[in-house]
Amino acid sequence: MKIRSEFLPFSRPSIGESEISKVVACLKSGWITTGAQAKEFEDKFCTLTSAKQAIALNSATAGMHITLSALNIGAGDEIITPSLTFASTVNMIALRGATPVFVDVDYGTLNINAQLIEEAITPRTKAIIPVHFAGAPVDMDKINLLAAKYNLTVIEDAAHAVGTYYKGISAGGFGNPAIFSFHPIKNITTGEGGMITISDALLGKKIRLLRFHGIERDAWKRYGKGGNPAYDIAEPGYKYNLPDLLAALGLAQFERWPELNRRRTHLAKFYNERLAGISGIDLPQIPDYEHTHAWHLYIIKVLALNRDDFMNKLAEYNIGYGLHFPPAHLLTYVQENYLAEIGPLPETLRAADKIISLPLFPDMQDVDVQYVCEAIKEIVNHGR
Ligand SMILES: Cc1ncc(COP(=O)(O)O)c(C=O)c1O
Repeated sequence: MKIRSEFLPFSRPSIGESEISKVVACLKSGWITTGAQAKEFEDKFCTLTSAKQAIALNSATAGMHITLSALNIGAGDEIITPSLTFASTVNMIALRGATPVFVDVDYGTLNINAQLIEEAITPRTKAIIPVHFAGAPVDMDKINLLAAKYNLTVIEDAAHAVGTYYKGISAGGFGNPAIFSFHPIKNITTGEGGMITISDALLGKKIRLLRFHGIERDAWKRYGKGGNPAYDIAEPGYKYNLPDLLAALGLAQFERWPELNRRRTHLAKFYNERLAGISGIDLPQIPDYEHTHAWHLYIIKVLALNRDDFMNKLAEYNIGYGLHFPPAHLLTYVQENYLAEIGPLPETLRAADKIISLPLFPDMQDVDVQYVCEAIKEIVNHGR
């Protein structure tokens, strides 16, 4: 087949006129840091998830940091999470002085295997952080039941899950803290950004304080007409707020999430059709319970040849790719500090050196999917 001249990236944000005009309007408004746009963006997430509060942040990682801080998670505490997740979660657990305890995933969906969580629970366990991996929801009923039985907090990692539903309930709609990401490859983006949705009023208040120095009132209220710029701080906090300039972009993207996810779903189905029957690769499996998949990522597993060789071949065909994720339990500092706590993770390891994320973004064309699938067919056949 003829190699395309233009590089097909793994991901690219879909930015149109509505995003540009919203951001320009914000630039012209005289207020570009956290204010009315961020508040409106938060309200949209309350509506989406039915959570009582939403807290806009400059990243999901920041959200994880202050959620763990607000829960007073620290030395001696164990936090259950899959190893197949972004390193940021494990970093935040480690930076709080707590211990990550890894639970294996299901090889097909790459979601945490909810059946295996209970045996990882000890008297030191404080929280479970499941990831709605690639946009497919984890088995929330099972996880919530365990959390209730052992009095644990569930923190949903909803970085991939704008538009993910489990049995009709949106990610973030279970009353637990849930954390969304708006990094540029995510289903909607603010450049960088995140959102916590939460229904516990007290915990939400604590998180809000930790987001901005520990200062009680929002800057836009302190500096508005008649506002009082004085402040007091009861407990020191961080500087993790989402500026309006970015929230404006998020608001324009939010209006489009159903359309953007429809396009992702179409492309994922097209991949499924075109890749079906090619031997030497495993296609992504979907959960067997009722759900709506957000198709954040389309991940195949390469069996026919070494994954690094496969990546090099894709590059020769001018195709980009991603890797979600190198298992966290194999990271150097995790091996050095938590080796004794790492149990066997056979399915994580079985998947880890085979997974590769194919290009998937709303502005990608059907012919692009066709091209990737043809290339894979050639690579897999010649690679044998
Ligand atoms: C599963 C998962 N969790 C957390 C994050 C962190 O998100 P952010 O980059 O917004 O901090 C990401 C983002 O890449 C992710 O994929």
